[in-house]
This record gives sequence, C-alpha cells and structure tokens, in this order.
Amino acid sequence: MSNIQELLKTLMTIAVICNQWGDSGKGKIVDLLAQWADMIVRGMGGNNAGHTIVVDGKQYVTHLIPSGIFWDKEGKINIIGSGVAFNPKVAWEELGFLSKENFSFNNLMIALNARLVMPQHMVMDRAKESSLGIDKIGTTGKGMGPVYTDHYARIGLTVNDMLNPDVLATKLRRNLVDKVKLLKLADPELIKQIMLAEDLENGAFFHPEKIFDVDAIVEKYREYGIFFKDMIRDTDAFLQKYVGKNKILLEGAQGVLLSVDTGIHPGVTSSDSSAEGLARGAGLQKSDIDMILGVVKFPYITRVGEGVFPTEMGGKESSEWCRDFTQKDEKNNYPDVSINAKNEFRQGIAVRQSGKEFGATTGRLRRTGWIDLPLLRYAVSKSGPDVVITKPDVLDECLVIKVCTEYLYQGPDYHYSDRIIKKGDSIYTAIPHSEILEHCEPVYKEFRGWLRGIGKARVFSDLPAELKNIIDFVENAAGVNVRIVSVGPDRKETIFV
Ligand code: GDP
Ligand code: IMO
Ligand code: MG
Repeated sequence: MSNIQELLKTLMTIAVICNQWGDSGKGKIVDLLAQWADMIVRGMGGNNAGHTIVVDGKQYVTHLIPSGIFWDKEGKINIIGSGVAFNPKVAWEELGFLSKENFSFNNLMIALNARLVMPQHMVMDRAKESSLGIDKIGTTGKGMGPVYTDHYARIGLTVNDMLNPDVLATKLRRNLVDKVKLLKLADPELIKQIMLAEDLENGAFFHPEKIFDVDAIVEKYREYGIFFKDMIRDTDAFLQKYVGKNKILLEGAQGVLLSVDTGIHPGVTSSDSSAEGLARGAGLQKSDIDMILGVVKFPYITRVGEGVFPTEMGGKESSEWCRDFTQKDEKNNYPDVSINAKNEFRQGIAVRQSGKEFGATTGRLRRTGWIDLPLLRYAVSKSGPDVVITKPDVLDECLVIKVCTEYLYQGPDYHYSDRIIKKGDSIYTAIPHSEILEHCEPVYKEFRGWLRGIGKARVFSDLPAELKNIIDFVENAAGVNVRIVSVGPDRKETIFV
C-alpha cells in the first residue's frame, strides 16, 4: 500500500485546494477522495467555479454543489459552507440535472449564513467589466466581486433570508440604493441587455425606471426558499461538532494565485481561495486541517481571464488570442497544430487542444504555459508541501519539457518592502505583485519528454523514467512531496504515491 493510502487511515480532515490559477483538477481529486470521507464541504467561491468529474465514463461539471455529491447514495454528507456565494438558481438547476441523471442529494446541507447571490450582483459585475476596457479582470460574470463586497460593506444578504421574505425585501431595498445610483450613470441599453440574460430570468427582474423589480425578485427568492428549506442548516455548528471525530474533506475552489488574500492582484477573485479561507468558509480553522493537498497541473499550467502569466506559451499573442477568440475560431484557424511546434504560440494552442483546456464555467480558451517553480514555491509557502499532480498525460507526445526554475527581472527599480528589485536580479520564489511579474523573464531547464502513453499507469513505478526524473527534480527544486499523480480524468486513472 502506498504512503498516502496508509496516511489516509489516520487523517481526519483533508483540504484539497489548487496551488495555481484554478482548473487543476480539484473536482476529480475531491470525487476520488470522497470515498474516504464522511463529509465533503465547499468553503469559498461560488458558481464561478467549474469542477469536472467523470463517473462511469460520463463527464459532469459541478459549480456550486460539492463534488462529493456523486457519493450521496453511500450516505456521504455534502455541505455548501458559509463562505460560499450561493446562487439559488444555479443550485436548483444543478440539483435538477443530478436528479435527471439518477443521482440523489438526500444528505445535502446549505449554510444558513452563506452569502446570497442576487440579480444586482451579476448586473454590477457585468456592467463593471464591460466599462473597464483593457483594465478588465475577465471575471466569470457570476457576481462574485459585488457579493463579497456587500458582505464586508455589511449590506449583504444570506441564504437564511430566503426563508423570511419580509426581511429579504427590506434588506434588498437597502442593498440596492447605491447600486441603482451607479447603474443609472451607465448606458441604459447596456443595463437592459445585461438584464435580459437567461441566468437573470430573461428580463423578469428588470424595471424600466427603477432598474430592479424588487417584488419580482422577492417572489422568486421566496420560491427558492421553499425549495431549499429542508437543506438550510447551521453548518458551521454542525462541522465544529464533528471535526476531529469524522472524516471531513474540504473542497477548495479557484486557487492560491487567484485568492483575494494570497493571489496576485488585480487578477484575482473576491474570496480567499487558500487553505485558510477554505477552513474559515467551512466554519473551521486552518489548524483543524491534518493535510492540505495542493493540486498542481503538471508540467504545464493554465490561466483563464486577464492577468500576468510569466511562462505563457506565446506571451502577449496568446493572451490576446484567448481574450478575443472562441474555441470555434481556434478550431477553424488552427485545425492541426503540433504539440512540438517550434512557434510557442502554436505549441500553446496544441497543449490547450490536447488538454481540452476550455473553461468549464464560461467556455473560454484557457491560456497555457510551462510549469513555473517560482510561483509553485510561493504557493507552497501558503499551502505546505503536499501536492497532487494532474494531467501529465496531456504532454505524452511532447519532445521537450520546459520547467521554469527561476526568473530574471527585467523591469525598472521596484521597491518591495525593504528591498529594491533591480534589472538583472534573479527571483527564485515569486513575489505576488503584478508590477514585478510582468517584467519577469523565465529561466528554463529542459528535459527530454517521455513520448509514450501514461494513461494506463497505476503505480508510480509504471511511469516512464523521463517523467519520474522531472517529478524528482521538481520535488527537490520546489520543496514538495508528490502524494498523488493523476494520469487521466477518470477515477481509476490515478496513482497513489
Ligand atoms: P477544477 O476546477 O480544479 O476542478 O478543474 P476543472 O474541472 O475545471 O479542469 C480540469 C480538467 O481536467 C477537467 O476536464 C478534468 O476532467 C480533467 N482532468 C483532471 N485530471 C486529469 C488528468 O490527470 N488527465 C487529463 N487528461 N485530464 C484530467
Ligand atoms: P475553479 O474552482 C479558473 C478567475 C476568472 C477571473 C478571476 C475573477 O474551477 O478552479 P470572478 O468571476 O471570480 O470574479 O473572476 O478569477 N476564476 C477562475 N479561474 N478557475 C476557477 O474556478 C475560477 N474562478 C474564478 O477567470 O480571471
Ligand atoms: Mg474549474
């Protein structure tokens, strides 16, 4: 039996987070480890997340419902924790879909104090992004920034408010005052267009003068309250009671580099997607976690949306292409690019196609780059050394694998605390400032590719020597322990190390 399988016998609380910019395969790992757990808990983010799970060869994507839901019939408890931004329409649709597919959700709980996502949050998010031009963040448009802002501004609504329509109406009116003032400054046609979106009930919440039809919103949320009533619980208290006694699996969303607290501003989400934020969003503390598993896509990395990306294949050409074009455009323009293309932009496209790197939430093209050890060292300083690596099979046919070992800073003098970063300086551990990272030139070490299929490997010794060599190098160079290697999307395509 492998080390990690031995360890699982003694661990009580495990957190699965991403050590990169999200989309590293957390969903697959959470679904896999849900077999071990009694309870699976989402703690942060909302339906900006898209977690893909493959069950019996069929692919499912969860946005809000924890990825342990496929084990409901086995009695596993799934919890949407208090740190989550809860959009009832999305949860309702996900549950409807699960029912149709014959999955149950008898043991699902939703935190009474989870932050409630409402139409105004999505409208604010989308209106702001469309007015920002080149400064836009490339959000998912799901209302995350506004909903978490409201929480800290002390004007947010919670899931429990859906059970008390009068309270909901009062809080909603208060919540809307400043937003309506701002939205009235925007182009009315733009706001109307945004409100006609399908996920905003095709304009049912739109009021021509007041922008929002409060009565229509309250009525819809009252209906959701009736639907979710039996699932709404004080899950913080519940988990505090069972922590240390039952096996709890915490499911992270987004990634350390996207966290509002540990990520690289401004290209971040609005909740804390580190292990600390995950624990807090489940009503627990970081010290309650026995093991943090940081998922790392390997040996390449992706990012969706705007922001710095030092090892991006094709640099600016790639970021602009991924911002402006769709999957269909890419298929038409680049029907057969090689993963060994000399041109890095084309190689990045081939990696995207081989890894099916298209957003699970928005369908956007995910930008691709080489594994970046300075960023990994930074993430590990927040998450600890235990990592899961995923998707090496995507590069099975790649002749040369590049690992960024450090950066060479090429920008103007930059004061960073008591240091001055100067042109020509080497940077070994990434500093999470966009102003530095945008001037960092990666230094690469090249490795020979393994050039054979690894999808059937089930124990570490099955892996080709070339890949084991790269893993070994990265373990030493970044100070990590690889605990699990995923070699395909399916549950069984997994190696416990
Ligand atoms: P998450 O947001 O971290 O859960 O990741 P996503 O689901 O957004 O993206 C990961 C994608 O990679 C999904 O399509 C998974 O099915 C897929 N995947 C996960 N692990 C592996 C792997 O080891 N190999 C391959 N080829 N695909 C994987
Ligand atoms: P999972 O859990 C990848 C990115 C968006 C954008 C930034 C802010 O599937 O890994 P937001 O809508 O949160 O305000 O957008 O964060 N982003 C993600 N990128 N995976 C995710 O989730 C993400 N959730 C948000 O693309 O750049
Ligand atoms: Mg995802």
